[in-house]
Amino acid sequence: MHAIPKTRILGTGSYAPARVVPNAELEGVVDTSDEWIATRTGIRRRHFAAEGEATSDMAAEACRRALSAAGLNAADVDLIIVATVTPDSPIPSCAVLVQKKLGASEIPAFDIAAACAGFIYGITIADQFIATGAARCVLVVGVELLSRAVNWTDRTTCVLFGDGAGAVVLGPASMKRTGEPDREPALAPGILSSCIFTDGSLAGALRIPAGGSARPADDEVLRTRQNKVHMDGQDVFRTAVKQLTASSTQALKASGLTSRELDWVVPHQANLRIISQVSQRLGFPLEKMVLNLEEYGNTSSASIPIALDEAVRDGRIVAGHHVLMCALGAGISWGAAVVRI
Ligand code: ACO
Repeated sequence: MHAIPKTRILGTGSYAPARVVPNAELEGVVDTSDEWIATRTGIRRRHFAAEGEATSDMAAEACRRALSAAGLNAADVDLIIVATVTPDSPIPSCAVLVQKKLGASEIPAFDIAAACAGFIYGITIADQFIATGAARCVLVVGVELLSRAVNWTDRTTCVLFGDGAGAVVLGPASMKRTGEPDREPALAPGILSSCIFTDGSLAGALRIPAGGSARPADDEVLRTRQNKVHMDGQDVFRTAVKQLTASSTQALKASGLTSRELDWVVPHQANLRIISQVSQRLGFPLEKMVLNLEEYGNTSSASIPIALDEAVRDGRIVAGHHVLMCALGAGISWGAAVVRI
């Protein structure tokens, strides 16, 4: 028996900055090559925000596009959740700026910092608000401006990331979009299951060591770039393959679906080799995985909602499809969700 959803996706939207940076351009920045980046990661290009463009600008644009797809306005929204580890500034939160830029009402708006798993965390939280009736129309946006958070002298990390935003509008499963045909109750759209996890014992594997309260930014921090991303790539890689497989299996079981009933998997877009290994372990073909890391690199919390939006807009994912989403990142935090579109 399939799980009965309480919350559904009403619309998706995404935004990528106009500036495209191919791998070859990075050859002039660090000792790397297009060939190394493409074969080790699957990434060929990424988008970088323009000067003066902020995280909240990208988030607000993705939200406008998601609202438009849902046939709703900012005035309909009663909660905004922004998943980001690269907010415009520590205070106010990015969600506050998004609320203002959208012209939304005096509603709750807050950030969550779960890195690459942020979007799965965000929809899981939104699902709780909607299921309890505390909120009716929730914007969840994953957004990152990582080009300003990486160490541009560290070739092992700076080539991996990109900037962008992806959003969904969530509402009660019973809510219909204008003109949408009725569906049998057993085929109602919505979030069938989700699960989220954290293992803080692995916190050192991926971090920005300084620039916060434990070690405020001083000259030494800036000189040694301790306020930028540091990562043990192989630790993260191994944990990603293991935990993405485990959480996907758990979410699938909780949804009541078998892997054969899944139409698509939208994985976090970190590394094609991670995705291939998860595909093998899940027994789910790579051709049915939505992939766009070639174009965007790793956009952390934005990667799943951007990929989801692209697949919805180009008609790969359609009403009735079952979609598994899974992500893992700094924390280490991870999670998975199964959704009927
Ligand atoms: N260009 C050229 N050479 C490089 C580069 C680069 N950009 N980066 C590293 N190398 C070199 C290394 O110095 C090393 O050289 P050596 O053998 O002479 O010492 C060699 O390439 C191999 O390095 P490895 O670290 O063993 O390379 P690996 O195959 O593990 O790939 C990578 C590294 C891509 C970072 C991989 O470990 C990875 O993808 N890990 C997951 C991390 C990740 O994606 N994190 C993002 C956030 S978390 C998440 O989204 C899941």
